[in-house]
Amino acid sequence: MSAFAEQLIIWHDQHGRHHLPWQKNRDPYAIWLSEIMLQQTQVNMVIPYYARFMQKFPTISSLAQAPLDAVLSLWSGLGYYARARNLHVTARKVMHHYQGQFPCTREAIQHLPGIGRSTAAAIAVFAFGQCEAILDGNVKRILARYFGISGFPGETKTQNLLWKKAEESLPIHHQNGKIETYTQALMDLGTAVCTRRAPLCKACPLQSECVALKENRVDQLPTTKPRKPLPQKETTFLLLMQQQNILLEQRPAPGIWGELWCPPEIGIGIDVITYCQHNLNIEVRALIELPILDHQFTHFKLRIHPQLLQVTSSESLATLPKFIWTKPSDALAKGIPAPVRKLLKQTFLSKFSPYRI
Ligand code: ADE
Repeated sequence: MSAFAEQLIIWHDQHGRHHLPWQKNRDPYAIWLSEIMLQQTQVNMVIPYYARFMQKFPTISSLAQAPLDAVLSLWSGLGYYARARNLHVTARKVMHHYQGQFPCTREAIQHLPGIGRSTAAAIAVFAFGQCEAILDGNVKRILARYFGISGFPGETKTQNLLWKKAEESLPIHHQNGKIETYTQALMDLGTAVCTRRAPLCKACPLQSECVALKENRVDQLPTTKPRKPLPQKETTFLLLMQQQNILLEQRPAPGIWGELWCPPEIGIGIDVITYCQHNLNIEVRALIELPILDHQFTHFKLRIHPQLLQVTSSESLATLPKFIWTKPSDALAKGIPAPVRKLLKQTFLSKFSPYRI
């Protein structure tokens, strides 16, 4: 047996989970239900749902006979409702195509709706003691680290390599029960020790051979999804100066910077002087284009072109609703976005700025 499998099996005896409700028997129906519930949901959340479900539908035939509404209502709150619909379809399929006997090979299980290769393997292991490899998110992380496999696991090439390692690591020359223990150990290690953030490497049974640990790459593996370059939007900020004051506008909520105070903003290419006349009722004289400011949001980048303008209207300026005239230093005490803060500081408050006010 590989050292990998051996260490995991030894570790599980003391540190693994032995009393999860679905570990009580080898009823394929119960195992299948638990594996579907556990696909996108954590154990603690699943336990009460699993208990209620098993009580209401103790057999695959009772589930097949139930109306879908009753199934969905028991699923309510667990999320990913396609799982419940597939469960119901599958129960009926097993009743009609398999005379109520859940199929016992990984390949046949995998053909049922809503069951991928890893879930099919987990069911084949726990319900039928078949020697099959699982590869869920936790196992991908363990294998990527242990074997030092880089590359995003969502890419076919990396995924294929991980499947190969998962299969090669199985405890093949095993006594009865080892494949179940091994598979549960992988799941438990991924949940409790080899976690995505702050893994407990010092408590890991695989630490002596773990490539990522040896090479100090634990926090770099598995490789995260390659990020597409963010789209860039451009905008013009109008810094309108009126004696010691500048004009700020409170942005509508919701929306980016909702309720925060910003200089008036216009699209690229719009004539500034005309815009100020028509939209703000202000006469202005353009002074200078200030240096570009780049700001990054989670989903896009914003390139800000600030324009400094001198207000030349002679009559007193009636403040529009949602607009204020304020000293730049006072503006800093208001709710303003980070790039606006930076812009105000460098334009009006820096001792090196010719526009200091
Ligand atoms: N996640 C998926 N299957 C599981 C299982 N059988 N036990 C614990 N966590 C799991």
